[in-house]
Amino acid sequence: MSTGLLLLLSLSAFIFNVNGEDCIAGVVRDLNIDSTANLTWAVHPTEPCQIDQFLVEVASGTTVQFRFYVNDTHAHLPFLDVCQKWMYVVTPITEGVLGYRRELTDYIPLPPDTDLTVNHFMAQKVADGVVHLQWNLTNPIPGNCFYRLEYRLVMIDLQSGDVTDTYIRAQQTNLHLLSPCVPYELSIRAINTVDGVNVEGPSKSVNVEMDPYPEDPPTLSAIETTPTGINMVWTLESYLKNRCPVINFFVDGGSNFNITQPIRDHFGRAPVAVNLTHLQPDRMYYFKVLVENLGGMSPVVPMAAQTLELKPSIQ
Ligand SMILES: *[C@@H]1O[C@H](CO)[C@@H](O)[C@H](O)[C@H]1NC(C)=O
Ligand SMILES: *[C@@H]1O[C@H](CO)[C@@H](O)[C@H](O)[C@H]1NC(C)=O
Ligand SMILES: *[C@@H]1O[C@H](CO)[C@@H](O)[C@H](O)[C@H]1NC(C)=O
Ligand SMILES: *[C@@H]1O[C@H](CO)[C@@H](O)[C@H](O)[C@H]1NC(C)=O
Ligand SMILES: *[C@@H]1O[C@H](CO)[C@@H](O)[C@H](O)[C@H]1NC(C)=O
Repeated sequence: MSTGLLLLLSLSAFIFNVNGEDCIAGVVRDLNIDSTANLTWAVHPTEPCQIDQFLVEVASGTTVQFRFYVNDTHAHLPFLDVCQKWMYVVTPITEGVLGYRRELTDYIPLPPDTDLTVNHFMAQKVADGVVHLQWNLTNPIPGNCFYRLEYRLVMIDLQSGDVTDTYIRAQQTNLHLLSPCVPYELSIRAINTVDGVNVEGPSKSVNVEMDPYPEDPPTLSAIETTPTGINMVWTLESYLKNRCPVINFFVDGGSNFNITQPIRDHFGRAPVAVNLTHLQPDRMYYFKVLVENLGGMSPVVPMAAQTLELKPSIQ
């Protein structure tokens, strides 16, 4: 090669002189990197220029790390780090003149025979209804870029049989809203997507059961007062959020009244109706409402309600 040609090739693809006879090749097609780290492309069938060589550049970020010439429409790049995202640039060359460049930015796919066996899978309760999950592979991916794989987490509610699927690109996650008093089976497996096909590894399971915890405070859904009574309907925390059996409903009015209403808990978890009777007319009553389940007492709801005035017509 002449010094002029060397100089030309070492310049960026866009900066060169074009004289009338130069043929500038168009962009290559089907630029792809496969799981064997083989970069392949094709020349457009109607490409008018005679292409002698291709300039292949591999950059990470804005820095070109590798630059070489090939005569074929493929280049084998097994030396690239699979954890890193690379930009591959292929530029056709015709009689020493650079054509148009084609770019592709991608990781090198993991080989189809990557070992997907999950090694440790641990579940740790971190708060009410929250479990921290962590796992790893028996054979870590070189460079330990675990995010190159996807993981499928299956949660089975062993009481209802409900199954929930979650896909995660990490080796840990927090699982929320697990109901207490319900046994769950959690299983994880790694998935490697190779050329659009999912290769699944064996699954690893753990069982968890959240410790019982109290209900959220009940909420007042209806109230009606008469001169001698206060009729209320209270809604309890959803059965789906807290499946620990509800035991008692309390309306504590100190020396005026103190009601303990036993609850027979079932799937629907019906609202609780409580009628305070034999009260004094036109009087403010203060009381506390709370609910007890297998996990203990809920927070207290402080209440104040006034009975109606006794009208002469009612007696
Ligand atoms: C890369 O792909 C090309 C075209 O399919 C093929 O001819 C070549 O043998 C492959 N190289 C390697 C190292 O697999
Ligand atoms: C590739 O092509 C160039 C120019 O046509 C030639 O000089 C060179 O020897 C070829 N290289 C190989 C490895 O075939
Ligand atoms: C997986 O995690 C466990 C527990 O944290 C650790 O002891 C083990 O060394 C890890 N294995 C790999 C291959 O990283
Ligand atoms: C009301 O009854 C509950 C349950 O029996 C009891 O714990 C509470 O101390 C009582 N309240 C009063 C003011 O006596
Ligand atoms: C409470 O009072 C309402 C309205 O008078 C009545 O419909 C309901 O049956 C009563 N409930 C109980 C549990 O006594």
